[in-house]
Amino acid sequence: MEGEYFTYKGVIFPVLHFSHEGLSYVENEFQVRDDDVFNITYPKSGTNWMLEILSLIRCEGDPGWVRSVLNWKRAPWVDSLPGLEAARKYPPPRLLTSHLPVQLFPKSWHCSKAKIIYTMRCPKDVLVSHYYFLQLLRSVKLPRTMDSLLEDFLSGKVAYGSWFDHIIGWMELKGKENFFSITYEELQQDPWGSVRRICRFLGKELSEQQVAAVVENASFQSMKENKMSNFSQMPDNFMDHQKGGLMRKGICSDWRNHLSEAQSQRFDTIYRDRMDGLGTDRPDPK
Ligand code: A3P
Repeated sequence: MEGEYFTYKGVIFPVLHFSHEGLSYVENEFQVRDDDVFNITYPKSGTNWMLEILSLIRCEGDPGWVRSVLNWKRAPWVDSLPGLEAARKYPPPRLLTSHLPVQLFPKSWHCSKAKIIYTMRCPKDVLVSHYYFLQLLRSVKLPRTMDSLLEDFLSGKVAYGSWFDHIIGWMELKGKENFFSITYEELQQDPWGSVRRICRFLGKELSEQQVAAVVENASFQSMKENKMSNFSQMPDNFMDHQKGGLMRKGICSDWRNHLSEAQSQRFDTIYRDRMDGLGTDRPDPK
């Protein structure tokens, strides 16, 4: 891990594209606007899927924008240095993305009307998706076994810190009128209903046809084929495109194909320790 990551206020970040100064600026000085919409997730929880849905809702289902502009330009990652630069130049209303844990998120949000959509996913699927994504990144030294990644994941020694802290921290905002949460699993089970709920939260009225166009154009297959959304345009020195891509499987419970019984049980023990008693609003490790 040495050389690849650094720690900012107890949370690990990759060296590439991040810095203490940048993160401190985002937390303390970045000015959130009332008309900003934030797409927030713990990494590998469906960030790019939600980004696509929000992009399409903005265009009432018309795929023109998602097919012509790269996803990381449509909704820049404010946490990263290039994303921060892009966010500063973005003509409002801005669509922005962040993986930051709540305590490092721009302070100015708390006194703004900017809307947050927080997407969560079954943490075992997050782990598996993370494992395969790491194989693609040239900046990460491999091999890394599932066992070692599992332990790092459970103790928060991964980029953006602990999944548990992320969920617990963000879900404390539940009930605020400018905060909306949803799960990857809900998006899978009921994409139409989910899109309608997101539209209601955003105050966007879409017809049934437009909702259907959002669902269709944000489907796994549409995104896999869209070079503006599938990360195929990420620079070769960042991602090894021969080994795979962002759009890996896009299903629920794939962890069952990758974690052993012992690994799953180890996960459940820590999950129970951290999440029990915190209500039913948390994604299940199932
Ligand atoms: P898998 O690796 O399990 O396939 P993120 O965008 O946060 O990095 O998350 C990536 C994960 O979301 C990947 O999961 C990817 O396949 C999945 N994903 C992206 N778009 C999707 C879509 N339209 N439908 C279902 N899953 C999608």
